[in-house]
Amino acid sequence: MVKFGVIGYGYWGPNVVRNLDSLDGAQVLAISDKSPTARKRAQKTYHDIPVTADTSEVMSSTDIDAIAIVTPVWTHFELAKAALENGKHVFVEKPFTSCVQQAEKLINLAEQKNLKIMVDHTFLFTGAVRKIRQLLEEDALGKLYYYDSTRVNLGLFQHDVNVIWDLAPHDLSIMDYLIKESPEALVATGQTHLNGFEDVAFITVYFSEKIIAHINVNWLSPVKVRTTLIGGEKKMLVWNDLEPDEKVKVYDKGVSITSRQGLYDLLVSYRSGDMWAPQVEQVEALRMELGYFVDCISNNREPFNDGAAGCRVVRMLEAASQSLNKRGALVYL
Ligand SMILES: NC(=O)c1ccc[n+]([C@@H]2O[C@H](COP(=O)([O-])OP(=O)(O)OC[C@H]3O[C@@H](n4cnc5c(N)ncnc54)[C@H](O)[C@@H]3O)[C@@H](O)[C@H]2O)c1
Repeated sequence: MVKFGVIGYGYWGPNVVRNLDSLDGAQVLAISDKSPTARKRAQKTYHDIPVTADTSEVMSSTDIDAIAIVTPVWTHFELAKAALENGKHVFVEKPFTSCVQQAEKLINLAEQKNLKIMVDHTFLFTGAVRKIRQLLEEDALGKLYYYDSTRVNLGLFQHDVNVIWDLAPHDLSIMDYLIKESPEALVATGQTHLNGFEDVAFITVYFSEKIIAHINVNWLSPVKVRTTLIGGEKKMLVWNDLEPDEKVKVYDKGVSITSRQGLYDLLVSYRSGDMWAPQVEQVEALRMELGYFVDCISNNREPFNDGAAGCRVVRMLEAASQSLNKRGALVYL
């Protein structure tokens, strides 16, 4: 049984507590939040779990093995550092930290103390992403051409981060998980309209092997869109996360170009074959992820969404901020 303390019971914290509470191998021993309203909500739902305003009480409890940090990003570093210094494993929300330097410090500290860090990249545990990863591993799409993701909706405006730091960690972590090649450089553009933080932004990531990725994040869209296109030489796929069934569709479509010797024109041939929708497992991703964390702790295994994975995403976010400030300058990673 892995015993948890959960810090932060705002919007996402209740999902973490509910899932931990329902896992056989986990137990929530304490919840902490600075806000009296949040504490009241927690206590109303979980009569038997102590709820406190004092985070250090949770950090120093000798009964607790792991801390889940579900607070805003600017608090992640100090809270995770305190948890590791107190000998606790850490489950921390995306984005891992506010900068690469903080991420590296936490990774080193966890290594010294022989503790695990898992960064909540929830989408990696969805049936759709796991299916897409399987397809890519089987080389179903052939040589990759592009990754193009749209994550737009109206709001929720954040008070502490722009739309890139709020929404793009999802896309960047998925991209990091699916594309084996390393990103080389990126460009980000965006604009502020309402509260001083960029609310519309576009990121382009250049990889080796001519793979290009594009991420569109927007809090000012009239409709919600969650669509990712992945194009390969052999096949292309569309993942529409808002589809109740058939979230992933694989198209046997492609283009090949040849030039006939002695001729100046190019021969372009288009292939338009079948479309199929592979079976995608319907599971609550967060539950699966937390179960995996418990398993990693119990069996002393390193999670794939560890501090290093979190740091790779923060490196891209940091580069995106630099590029954004220079209206789309190329930043090498
Ligand atoms: N994985 C996902 O899909 C997903 C979804 C939503 C949010 N998140 C992440 O979860 C984190 C929290 O987001 P949210 O939307 O729940 O924010 P929120 O503002 O709704 O809740 C944060 C809570 O943390 C509390 N808090 C802040 N600092 C604290 C401290 N030092 N000690 C104790 N309590 C503290 C606040 O009082 C608040 O109740 C963010 O990192 C966000 O990116 C992840």
